[in-house]
Amino acid sequence: MKKITTETIRRKKKNNEIITMLTAYDYPTAEILDEAGIDMLLVGDSLGMVVLGYDNTTEVTMEDMLHHVKAVTRGSKRSLIVADLPFLSYHIGINETVKNAGRLIQEGKANAVKLEGGKEVVPQVKAIVNAGIPVMGHIGLTPQSINQLGGYYVQGKSEEDAKKLIEDAKALEQAGAFSIVLECVPTELAKLITNELSIPTIGIGAGCDCDGQVLVTHDVLGLYSRMVPKFVKQYANIRESIVDATKEYITEVKEKSFPSNEHVFHLQEEVIGKIYGGGEK
Ligand code: KIV
Repeated sequence: MKKITTETIRRKKKNNEIITMLTAYDYPTAEILDEAGIDMLLVGDSLGMVVLGYDNTTEVTMEDMLHHVKAVTRGSKRSLIVADLPFLSYHIGINETVKNAGRLIQEGKANAVKLEGGKEVVPQVKAIVNAGIPVMGHIGLTPQSINQLGGYYVQGKSEEDAKKLIEDAKALEQAGAFSIVLECVPTELAKLITNELSIPTIGIGAGCDCDGQVLVTHDVLGLYSRMVPKFVKQYANIRESIVDATKEYITEVKEKSFPSNEHVFHLQEEVIGKIYGGGEK
């Protein structure tokens, strides 16, 4: 089993092979998705919402990220692991940015980092890449800027906004990013950007003309119901399975049909005899 590298991902675009990516935040999920053959696992800061119950991704800290990145890298053997740089971890200064990216690689054992933004984050992207760390860009809907965007809306709909996104994508490519996430942009614009770049685009709510697709695993498996974006396709309803299994467990525990004989341990008759007869020596 060969480990996927950023080179593999770049090559896939050249060979017209579609790239697959899902989020993972823990050991068992990473192990399962890896076994299923996913190319890349994203330890997204979406973990703040779907795992930690925060209102949005701005609450996620470096320590939150590291905790989950470590679990995911322990679970995955083959997939390329990309870890999100959380809100404010790459805005304070270049040294701080490189240090935080480095922690995700050195302590978390991730293979690459992802950060949100276009032209304005070019100095950070260059500095991280110069430190030998692969960077994935992320433009369009950038959830860490929720307070500025005012909501989770489609981006790049006007001529001006679309042109800005094209320029942002080119600037990230020039800065050394190995791929770019396009989130929540019109499908025609995503196609245009994809054709303009030599590095792969990974779409989420950006149509099927991107070089690859990413979704939040908790959305795909029906584990998170607080907010389900239009672009999500739910492939399973694990929540329903968990509710059903839990109800069955409650019933069986109450009626004492669990634990049954196959789930218990027994004392040998001889030992029982000795315990009861122990005082009669
Ligand atoms: O945090 C995340 O899960 C992401 C994806 C939505 C691309 O950034």
